Amino acid sequence: MGAQKRIGILTSGGDCAGLNAVIRAVVQRAVGTYDWEVLGIRQATRGLMARPPQVIPLEPEQVDPLLTVGGTMLGTTNKGDPFAYPMPDGTLRDRSSEIIEGYSLLGLDALIGIGGDGSLAILHRLAQQGGMNFVGIPKTIDNDIGMTERAIGFDTAVNIATEALDRLHFTAASHSRVMILEVMGRDAGHIAISAGIAGGADVILIPEIPYSLDSICRKIYARQERGQNFCLIIVAESVRTETGLPVTKLECEGQQRYGGIGQYLADRIAACSGAETRVTVLGHVQRGGIPSPLDRLTASAFGVAAVDLIAEENYDRVVTWQNRQVVSVPVADAIARYSTVDPNGTLVKTARGLGICLGS
Ligand code: F6P
Repeated sequence: MGAQKRIGILTSGGDCAGLNAVIRAVVQRAVGTYDWEVLGIRQATRGLMARPPQVIPLEPEQVDPLLTVGGTMLGTTNKGDPFAYPMPDGTLRDRSSEIIEGYSLLGLDALIGIGGDGSLAILHRLAQQGGMNFVGIPKTIDNDIGMTERAIGFDTAVNIATEALDRLHFTAASHSRVMILEVMGRDAGHIAISAGIAGGADVILIPEIPYSLDSICRKIYARQERGQNFCLIIVAESVRTETGLPVTKLECEGQQRYGGIGQYLADRIAACSGAETRVTVLGHVQRGGIPSPLDRLTASAFGVAAVDLIAEENYDRVVTWQNRQVVSVPVADAIARYSTVDPNGTLVKTARGLGICLGS
C-alpha cells in the first residue's frame, strides 16, 4: 500500500444517470482499499472557488446506498467557465487561480473530475496551469467523448429514448399519425441512432447525415401503400433545417441550447405529406432516473480504475472503455477527438439494412 493520500472528487457539466455510482466506487476503492481520505467537492469547480472551499468528507457507509440514485449528490453545473467566469456586473473574469488555490488550501494530493468533453478540457487546462494531479472520468448522455466506446449516462439515456419509442408506437398506430421524437445528444446523433434502431423507428435523423423532406415523405407513402398508416421518426436535437440552420433557443447567461427541430419537421412533414403529426420532446427525462445496469457497471469500473491511476501516480489521464476493458489515455488525446456517428459505421449500415430511412 502506498502513502496516505487526500483526494478530491467533483462532478461537472450536465448531470446524467450513474454519477453517484462513480462517486460510490471511488470512495469504496480509495477508502476501502487504500485507506485514503476523499473530499467531495460541491457544485463542480465552484466548490474550489468558494472560500472556504465547499466540500463534504465522504465515507463508504454514506455512499453505499448511491448505486441506483440518479443525479449527483455533489451538485454540478454546465455554466461558468472558470477562465471566463460571468461576474454579477456582466463582465467575464479569469478565476482559474482561485480554483488552483482551493485545491492547495484543501491539501489535495489529486483530483478526480467526472465530466464531458467541455469539463474535461477545462479541468485539464487547470491541472496544467496549477500543477494539479488530475484524473478524468468520462460521462455524458451524448457519448461524444473521443477514445472511449462508453461514457457514463449514455446507456440509460438510450434506454429511456427506446422506451419512449415503444410507447409512441401504440398511440401512433391507433391514430394513424406520424410521431416525431426529439432526443438530446448535442452535436452527435448517438442517442438517436441507437434508440432509433432499438425502438424500431421508421426514420432516424442525425446531424451526421443530411436529409431531405422528400425522402421522409416517400418513406411515409411507402408505409401507407403497405397498409402501415403510421410512422415513427426519431430526430437528434442538432439536426438542422433543410437550409442548414441550427434550431436553437436562448437559455440563461446568453447560452444557446438546441431545441425545436421536432416541431420544425412536424410542420413541414404535415404540409408535404398531409399526415397528421405530433411531437414529443424528451428533454431532461433522458438525464434523470435510475442508472441502467450497464451504466452502473461502467461507473463502478471507471471509479475503481481512476483511483488505481492515482495510486500509481499516473496523472493527466482519463479512464476509457476500449475493446471490452478499461484503459487510460492522456486527457489531451480524449478531448482532441470529438466522437460523432460514423456515416459508414456499423449502426448506420444496420439501420439501412433494416430499411430504416436516414433521410438521404
Ligand atoms: O450534454 C448533455 C446535454 O443534455 C445535451 O444533450 C443537451 O444539448 C444539453 O446538455 C442540455 O443542457 P441544459 O441542461 O443546460 O439544458
